[in-house]
Amino acid sequence: MPDKTADSKSSNQMWGGRFASGPAAIMEEINASIDFDRKLYAQDIAGSLAHAEMLAETGIISAEDRDTITHGLKTIRDEIEADTFTFSRRLEDIHMNIEARLAELVGPAAGRLHTARSRNDQVALDFRLWVKEELGRTEAALTDLIAAFLDRAEEHAETVMPGFTHLQTAQPVTFGHHCLAYVEMFGRDLSRVRDAIARLDECPLGAAALAGTGFAIDRHQTAEALGFREPTRNSIDTVSDRDFALEFLSIAAITATHLSRLAEEIVIWSTPQFNFVRLSDAFSTGSSIMPQKKNPDAAELVRAKTGRVNGALIALLTVMKGLPLAYSKDMQEDKEQVFDAAESLDLGLAAMAGMVRDLKVNATAMRHAAGSGHATATDLADWLVREAGLPFREAHHVTGRAVAMADREGCTLGELSLDALRSINDAITPAVFDVLTVDASVASRTSFGGTAPANVRRQIAWWRERMG
Ligand code: ARG
Repeated sequence: MPDKTADSKSSNQMWGGRFASGPAAIMEEINASIDFDRKLYAQDIAGSLAHAEMLAETGIISAEDRDTITHGLKTIRDEIEADTFTFSRRLEDIHMNIEARLAELVGPAAGRLHTARSRNDQVALDFRLWVKEELGRTEAALTDLIAAFLDRAEEHAETVMPGFTHLQTAQPVTFGHHCLAYVEMFGRDLSRVRDAIARLDECPLGAAALAGTGFAIDRHQTAEALGFREPTRNSIDTVSDRDFALEFLSIAAITATHLSRLAEEIVIWSTPQFNFVRLSDAFSTGSSIMPQKKNPDAAELVRAKTGRVNGALIALLTVMKGLPLAYSKDMQEDKEQVFDAAESLDLGLAAMAGMVRDLKVNATAMRHAAGSGHATATDLADWLVREAGLPFREAHHVTGRAVAMADREGCTLGELSLDALRSINDAITPAVFDVLTVDASVASRTSFGGTAPANVRRQIAWWRERMG
């Protein structure tokens, strides 16, 4: 826990020069970010190590000071990881907590580390590094979820289920095709993640407070050392830009929305009324009062967490929208939103990959549902167009009458007698029955991107090659 007992009457040791007294208690309360930005310790230390190295290479500090600073920073990293580091709210944030400890450990050399640097470029660097790593985690999690869907799609390339519009039975599709719809959605998310990584791959370090620095620093060296493609080009933009965080949150919001739609389908499909899938025990819970229940809690929570993620995006957009260039303290509010959204997103992606892999698919119930609700009515209309030369609108009308007749008789279209069908339109021949089965229906949907099993297999192969 952060140190709340620190003496707030003494002025801050980092800028105490012009301050007579320390902050009011409430100031410390609103100002300190250490409770959450301590998460950035590894990035902060990596940035300082690269900065110290560059300062020595360019002759701005001595090699001895660099070695002293480097040793001290590594000691601090060990302390934080061993949980023996004392974080202090009086020192506001992770940057000053680390620098103050460095001074304790190594003495005056510590004071040279902040040469040609400001907390403004420091925090921009730390946060960018963190978001870049998180985007890497998101990329891996999306890849895994897509792999889970591809396996299920392959297994169910021929499993017939009703396709829906308005959640009303529309036309038969294959479960494999339905799975591939999610592969497309998460595939777009993956491509957004990669775009965002490419766009944020510029190093902020060296922009200093906002104007750059008069010291002859080498920004290309630090950019390379920290794994960035190149340094950022404009110092003002560098310290005021949080687009990388907004992009992460936008991607997170869209991905969470996709996860939520999938969660919603799992909730619906696992009801006894649908009975399309059974959730494994690993991803469901029982009821404390109703022994028969198996609840899709994990899916429901994934659906619900979308609210937090979407909220985080709106919160940060709102923080940023009124800020003049360059840095304003408002921007400190960026981190909690991103950390919280990242946690929800990581959980949601992992839980969904698990659920998709574990789902027991009830192919019998799916096929039965596909055969009811006159899902092959469009096939009858299409047959009338193709074989009897009717204009589609007329074929639609004829089919509507056949549907009404089947409803009256309580049977499916395929169960109507030939005579009954011919009483509606005498161009109908026995060949019509070939197109009225659900298997014939899905097999006929061979247009590019359609649900025919052969298409589904081709699309799986396309994705597998793409995913490597
Ligand atoms: N804790 C601050 C933040 O997260 C670090 C930067 C502070 N810069 C400053 N000029 N006060 O934004």
